[in-house]
Amino acid sequence: MKVAVVTGASRGLGRHVALELASAGMQLVLTARSKEELEEVAAACRRERAAGGHAGRAADAAAGDGPDPVLVLPADIRDAEAVENIMQTAEHTFGRLDVLINNAGLSWIKPLAEWTREEIDMVLDVNLKGAIHAARAAANIMIRQGSGHIVNVASDVGRRAIPDMAPYVAAKHGLVGFSGSHLRELRPHGVRVTLLLPGIIDTYFAGAKEGDRDAAWSMDARAVARVIRHALEQPDRMVLDEIQLHPSGQEY
Ligand SMILES: NC(=O)c1ccc[n+]([C@@H]2O[C@H](COP(=O)([O-])OP(=O)(O)OC[C@H]3O[C@@H](n4cnc5c(N)ncnc54)[C@H](OP(=O)(O)O)[C@@H]3O)[C@@H](O)[C@H]2O)c1
Repeated sequence: MKVAVVTGASRGLGRHVALELASAGMQLVLTARSKEELEEVAAACRRERAAGGHAGRAADAAAGDGPDPVLVLPADIRDAEAVENIMQTAEHTFGRLDVLINNAGLSWIKPLAEWTREEIDMVLDVNLKGAIHAARAAANIMIRQGSGHIVNVASDVGRRAIPDMAPYVAAKHGLVGFSGSHLRELRPHGVRVTLLLPGIIDTYFAGAKEGDRDAAWSMDARAVARVIRHALEQPDRMVLDEIQLHPSGQEY
């Protein structure tokens, strides 16, 4: 049974990825800052596992054969020590770590002149440094295991530029470069890296609300989550190293 850590699991794309991996029967560690939202996602994941015929908490406990298969560990992704603890707790609890969905992210949309210094720091620290800390901590375990899969959720603006999100565009460009370099380091250790470059997704991103974005120019987060699951389900000897996807109505 595979073990996955999902960052940014409290809502949006991360929530749908967690549900998708739960229905695939994975054991999960869910993290983000919002404890209550994470608990709601964890409960939904347990139901998803049960519906898929995978043991839920009650069944596991009754059989005396293991911990709750869905663990909630709230943390700020900017806290490198907390992030390291999450990966270690995943390994200690479930005995291994197979998958990291490196997904936590945020931005504001406005001209650079209107960004505060704190907002600039936040966007670089969460989208770039947070993702690097998570990948490093997960990879340390995966290298030891000789297997693992990291999915870095960047953005199509990791490859192109748009106005009014300059710090975010910079952070995602950084993540694209980091991901390519890390992939080449990890390949000899049997650890795979997939870079996801999505266009607009219908989530809570940048103050939006899931369900509010027009289906003509935004992707259903569940559909994007299924693409991530597909990447994870490829044979060991194959890696989907980059996936770019857009809503058909988006200008890009
Ligand atoms: N939506 C889009 O159009 C789009 C397009 C391309 C790429 N992406 C990327 O997709 C990923 C998921 O975003 P989304 O669209 O699902 O947005 P979302 O609905 O706003 O979800 C963002 C997630 O990131 C977490 N997060 C934010 N700051 C954090 C922090 N400091 N520490 C820990 N977790 C933090 C949030 O949890 P808490 O607030 O509870 O901490 C939340 O779970 C991001 O990397 C984003 O850049 C989104």
